[in-house]
Amino acid sequence: MTPYDDKKIVITGGSSGIGLATARLFARGGAHVLITGRDRSALDAALERLGDKAVGVRSDAASLADIKALSGTVQERFGAVDALFVNAGVTASAPLDAVTEEMYDALFDINTKGAYFTVQALAPLLREGSGVVLTTSVVNVLGLDALGVYAASKAALRSMTRTLARELLPRGVRVNAVSPGPTDTGVLDRAVPADVAETMKDTYRSTIPMRRLGTCEEVASAAAYLAFGATFSTGAEFPVDGGASQL
Ligand SMILES: NC(=O)c1ccc[n+]([C@@H]2O[C@H](COP(=O)([O-])OP(=O)(O)OC[C@H]3O[C@@H](n4cnc5c(N)ncnc54)[C@H](OP(=O)(O)O)[C@@H]3O)[C@@H](O)[C@H]2O)c1
Repeated sequence: MTPYDDKKIVITGGSSGIGLATARLFARGGAHVLITGRDRSALDAALERLGDKAVGVRSDAASLADIKALSGTVQERFGAVDALFVNAGVTASAPLDAVTEEMYDALFDINTKGAYFTVQALAPLLREGSGVVLTTSVVNVLGLDALGVYAASKAALRSMTRTLARELLPRGVRVNAVSPGPTDTGVLDRAVPADVAETMKDTYRSTIPMRRLGTCEEVASAAAYLAFGATFSTGAEFPVDGGASQL
């Protein structure tokens, strides 16, 4: 008997970084994991690492049609769901005078609107006693340069964590958020030029009380705890940020 034996777990944005590390933790523990992402080849590469019990569904969190289709696929494959990790998200940075409407809409469409409607679409499939975990960010309580839109998209998600927790309480479903600090997933390297990424990482390290970036596995273990272990917690946000939001 393994800790997540035959549990049915959906992870959006499960093809890389934090989502993939969480999928690996659950898959190693015996769970059936369904991961999503937009890029089919990234999903296939992730499935090779996750083993036979994993399923990869191409689904764009910014598309309500994709979210509806995802809920149909989950129902078909799993019936009921034991945990939902709403983790798909993107980062982009720009100072106030350079933010465009396109950038603003893309961040909110994926990070906030997509997350909300994913919970709405999958809520009917959540078993009593199940856990929903949303990925927010340490930046939702900080005022960092050039991250205003991203931070706001995650602050909205933190707020939604509370209301969704209230609304799903009668169904016995807990809703919590994991709030990573800068985590070494490679996302920063993809979002900005290499020299800017290195400068930002140095800045992060210097401001984080623990003086290092987090790992995907550290965030994954917190997400797993919130999904299954935190049986007397709902509406909460758990920071995994080396003390950045607390000290
Ligand atoms: N890394 C950090 O320092 C950090 C800190 C705080 C919070 N976070 C949050 O943690 C979450 C995971 O980020 P990560 O760092 O692990 O990044 P990552 O390695 O880039 O992973 C992001 C995942 O989300 C998927 N994704 C992105 N846009 C999507 C969309 N529109 N629809 C469906 N899937 C989508 C990606 O696949 P495709 O690109 O193929 O779609 C990928 O599987 C995000 O919500 C991010 O905001 C990260």
